[in-house]
Amino acid sequence: MVVKDIIRKALADIEASGKNIPNPMGEIYILLEHITSKDKLFLSLNKDFEINEEEFFTLLNKRLNDTPMAYIIGKKYFRNIVLKTDERALIPRFCTEELIDIVNSFIKDNDSVLDMCTGTGAIALAIKEENTKVDVTCSDISEDALNLAKENAELNNLSINFILSDLFENISETYDILISNPPYISSEEYMGLERDIFKEPKLALVGGDLGYEYYEKIIRQAREKIKRMVFFEIGYDQGNIVKDILEKNNYKDIKIYKDLEGFDRFVSACI
Ligand SMILES: C[S@@+](CC[C@H](N)C(=O)[O-])C[C@H]1O[C@@H](n2cnc3c(N)ncnc32)[C@H](O)[C@@H]1O
Repeated sequence: MVVKDIIRKALADIEASGKNIPNPMGEIYILLEHITSKDKLFLSLNKDFEINEEEFFTLLNKRLNDTPMAYIIGKKYFRNIVLKTDERALIPRFCTEELIDIVNSFIKDNDSVLDMCTGTGAIALAIKEENTKVDVTCSDISEDALNLAKENAELNNLSINFILSDLFENISETYDILISNPPYISSEEYMGLERDIFKEPKLALVGGDLGYEYYEKIIRQAREKIKRMVFFEIGYDQGNIVKDILEKNNYKDIKIYKDLEGFDRFVSACI
């Protein structure tokens, strides 16, 4: 089947499925690019280019079965790096890229940085790629996620350290800076999320009954292991809650930052 017929049938299949795919044409092109290794410009100028339709519709059906696009094509761009993505870890979100800008404005050469709850390794690897003199360590409780982070370090030719650990349990060194995007969704909120989120590890998303339990633990324990600053990604409604937790634990210079959509999304504080 050629490109124009694939597009026509794919749009009809998406419509018939009743799924909420906000940008169907964009997703069709992503799948076409993935299976042909041709770019969108080529495909849109060569609508009679022959496509393996079985391969295409197998992938489209996965998408219509709520598999996120990043798991289907197996990669996600994050800052200047490309990350391998699969069911072992949460797909890095676009807004998390903004956290790297905030950290970059405070980081110093030769700092040691701990990225706790690393998942694919997105934060740790972006920090290392943009601050080559910094010594970066990442940790996660999930062996699967940590293995994926190791693969991503190799793919991007970046040298960082890995620790399998339940929060600070196996963290024996001290670090100048802690960065963490821990699970922060409440159990109740989780149940109302879009269906494709359920393909991502629940362990990466649910922070407990209230959602902010990880911040309480990390902020309390970080006082013993972190020497200068902590940075967190937070839920849009957690700014004041996390600020209170930081204040109760005697952190200084607490700042809340908004994301590009105008929601409270990041927090920094000094020890
Ligand atoms: C929201 S994901 C963040 C992934 C990545 N940092 C990012 O920004 O895309 C949270 C991660 O925390 C990990 N995690 C959950 N509980 C943990 C714990 N007790 N100790 C360490 N990591 C944990 C999960 O395995 C998951 O990889």
